[in-house]
Amino acid sequence: MTEALRVALAGLGTVGTGVVRLIEENRELIARRAGRPVEIVAVSARDRSRDRGVDLSGYRWADDMAAFAQAEDIDVVCELVGGSDGPALALARDALGAGKALVTANKALIAHHGLELADIAERTGAPLLFEAAVAGAIPVLKGLREGAAANRIERVYGILNGTCNYVLSAMEADGRDFDEVLSAAQAIGYAEADPAFDIEGTDAAHKLSILASLCFGTRLDFAGVETRGITQVRAEDIAQARALGYVIRLIGFAELDEGKLFQRVHPCLLPLAHPLARIDGATNAVVAEGNYSGRLLFQGAGAGDGPTASAVVADLVDLARGQVGHSFAMPASALEPAETAETGHRSGKVYLRFEVADKVGVLAEIAAAMRDAGVSVESLIQPALAGGDSALIAIVTHEVEERCIDQALQKLAGSDSLQAEPMVMHILNA
Ligand code: NDP
Ligand code: HSE
Repeated sequence: MTEALRVALAGLGTVGTGVVRLIEENRELIARRAGRPVEIVAVSARDRSRDRGVDLSGYRWADDMAAFAQAEDIDVVCELVGGSDGPALALARDALGAGKALVTANKALIAHHGLELADIAERTGAPLLFEAAVAGAIPVLKGLREGAAANRIERVYGILNGTCNYVLSAMEADGRDFDEVLSAAQAIGYAEADPAFDIEGTDAAHKLSILASLCFGTRLDFAGVETRGITQVRAEDIAQARALGYVIRLIGFAELDEGKLFQRVHPCLLPLAHPLARIDGATNAVVAEGNYSGRLLFQGAGAGDGPTASAVVADLVDLARGQVGHSFAMPASALEPAETAETGHRSGKVYLRFEVADKVGVLAEIAAAMRDAGVSVESLIQPALAGGDSALIAIVTHEVEERCIDQALQKLAGSDSLQAEPMVMHILNA
């Protein structure tokens, strides 16, 4: 067996300790598969004294992970710290600049700085790999970059955030409260260090922008992702959606619309029969439509220590084998800029939730606004609310252009009858 691939781990939290455990447990199998051993030689985190539940005594400890970029006994730096800037970015730039391979699980870093890092990597000949950054254990980047390499892909979508999917499916299954379920997701290790990144949709937007770039050959455009998270989804929405034949999931959706880039992360309603409607817990699923492959569905664990470590170590195995292609499936310089697509002409069914004063004429006022804007109602429920003088009206429209929904809501803006901002969710029709 030839020389070991020598790895430095920066970050020993959920993912970093998962990588230590995996490499220790599957050491021999990995060596046989890779044709050489994959060895951790050095580790770093903030607090050396912390008990992390793994034995680190065999590895050199670095108080400052920046030292990894110049260390002669390190082939690969594994960045498992997190954050789009700060120490993670500095380490990534320095390691790649020094010609060392970089493996990272950090989608924020790649979404914001992936092109710059890919440029450095191509200049120095250092590989840059980030399979774990999108959809946890699922080898979706590898599948798209390699398995679907011959296809034109014009649409990619799916469930990209394990925490949100865990929260929504738990609220739906047993009616548990949002905050309680989010705390459970944090305790398991699914959530980001700041869970606002999960529930506000930013994490899914990071991942979607990476997928879009890799699938469409366009330059990364995280700023172009229209992003809304799940914080405004209420238990009542989940119940009404169910009564109307749908479930609610946070969906990332990207496509090329006449050459322009459409990227959106929103909570959406999915018909119960849709394959993504059955994705529960922290599972992720990604659908990509290739012009020769047809529809490809990737599904698996989207977060957590073991699944994420699986993807990180898969990148290490590729490095050990010497099998590494372009990070974004083509040279970074070949990625093309794309304008952001307009959305007014997009059409589909829409769910609307109104919280209104329970008085004569309110329903007629909403119906008139929708009639005037050309929005046709398919289903409507007004469940009885306990006590008070408020009512909840849940509507599913027929197919309609988004600009018509905007017009209807503008007509209702400022109405005394509305007691809260209306909730709008698109119904996934892909
Ligand atoms: P954690 O917060 O659990 O771990 C972060 C680690 O980085 C800790 O060991 C921490 O040290 C160390 N660290 C943080 N800041 C610094 C710093 N300034 N200098 C040195 N070390 C630092 O995060 P995760 O393991 O959950 O996530 C790591 C990365 O993987 C993130 O980019 C995340 O987005 C990504 N990821 C996470 C997944 C998950 O399911 N958790 C799934 C896919 C990707 P200390 O422990 O001493 O505080
Ligand atoms: N916080 C992320 C999620 C981790 O919940 O999906 C996996 O990227």
